[in-house]
Amino acid sequence: MIHDSAARRVVGHLDAIITAGSAGDRLPSVRTLMAELGVSPATVRAAVSELVRAERIETISGSGTFILATPTRQSDDVDRGWQTAALSPHHLDIDFPGPLQVAAPPDTIDLASGYPDATLQPIALLTKAMRDAARRPGTYGRAPGEGIEPLRSWFAAELHPKRRHDVLITSGGQAALSLIFRSIALPGDTVVMETPSYIGAIAACRAAGLTPAAVAADDSGVRVDQLEAVIEATGARLVYLQPRFHNPTGVHLHVERRRPLMELAAERGLILIEDDWLYDLDDPTTRSRPLASDDPNGHVIHIRSLSKSVAPSMRIAGLASQGVIAERLKAMRTVEDFFVSPILQETALNVVTSTGWVRHLRAMRLELRTRQAALRDAIGAIDCWEPPIVGGPLHLWLGLPPHLDAVAVRDAALRRGVSIIAGNQWYPSDPRSTHIRLSNASMPATQIREGVERLGSALEGHRPQPLG
Ligand SMILES: Cc1ncc(COP(=O)(O)O)c(C=O)c1O
Repeated sequence: MIHDSAARRVVGHLDAIITAGSAGDRLPSVRTLMAELGVSPATVRAAVSELVRAERIETISGSGTFILATPTRQSDDVDRGWQTAALSPHHLDIDFPGPLQVAAPPDTIDLASGYPDATLQPIALLTKAMRDAARRPGTYGRAPGEGIEPLRSWFAAELHPKRRHDVLITSGGQAALSLIFRSIALPGDTVVMETPSYIGAIAACRAAGLTPAAVAADDSGVRVDQLEAVIEATGARLVYLQPRFHNPTGVHLHVERRRPLMELAAERGLILIEDDWLYDLDDPTTRSRPLASDDPNGHVIHIRSLSKSVAPSMRIAGLASQGVIAERLKAMRTVEDFFVSPILQETALNVVTSTGWVRHLRAMRLELRTRQAALRDAIGAIDCWEPPIVGGPLHLWLGLPPHLDAVAVRDAALRRGVSIIAGNQWYPSDPRSTHIRLSNASMPATQIREGVERLGSALEGHRPQPLG
């Protein structure tokens, strides 16, 4: 049962249409309902979900929402209230990843997704890699919990030629984060992270029962001078960082902060989680080495995912660590789901060791630069942003003037047919609705320009809303 008054109003409106209509009639589209009732897409979706649960309507993907023939049950007969009593309280954010996966109408321009679209994926390389993997004997059997040896060695050798690191293969970077938080800390422990930080890391941390704590960052990365005070105040041993292309600010950790950071880790016995999510998209001629490459004593856990540089369905990441931390992670990885599908692992190995891999990365970086230039150009025509405008190769992070609220801007933009991300959930401990994130990953330059135009008109028509 939903309690939100706007959603109840939509349920009432749809209820009247259903009662007056016949089985098989199509209900008005989400966009029509948004316009008629002046509500957000999330509100319409909540109302539709309630009526689907009550078996009064059904949603057919790509066709619409229809009145059901004979309700097999009246909503009043259903009582699942017992579930609420049966479930233990949990820190899991059940709306995650709502803001990343807005079910938008089909003609919506997607400036929200950070995953490169199909035109940036190495389809020919992938097809061949998968065909070869499929033919390999043993591909349909089991794999070791830690991953197949040649792929582990490839990740390890890229970090350090002498292979001090023990690499596990996980189902992408998000799975690696979740694995780390659940295996090397106990519920109630604190994880320090830059503010703002990646929404998925905050969610995984909370889901593991851990408490995220914020440390300031500036245009040189994490404020190492302040990290010590946060460690002192919280007693934390775990620090989650993105030293390269920080998501969402795009900042790199300055070379002069690396040594003090590693010294602090040594002094305080810290475990640093280095989320190197965009290693492959950094320019290889200037790219800094991961912190983990210069870490003989095993303070750093390094995550490198292929889901952006190959394709989102390539759920493969290398999780590198040393010592008992590596043993702990390995045990938990196996407990979780035994092993990552060997066919995916073999495919990933074929892709990254193919002759086309480096060429693909070069082309991808180039196209992303073109798209980002289009995005920067287009937002430059809107006189709205609080400086500075920052971001990585896949997106920009834009500050709004004080009278605008990021969530309201996101909803207004969606009504105009462009999806963006509101930054309010990207703060580990001090939520603010002051920024939006616009991605240049999944749309070509022409669509990016059109999307920003739509955003511009949404901002024009958007009345300032009082905060609070
Ligand atoms: C900073 C960061 N880390 C990790 C991930 C997880 O990505 P994946 O699970 O697709 O590898 C993402 C996804 O966008 C991200 O932005």
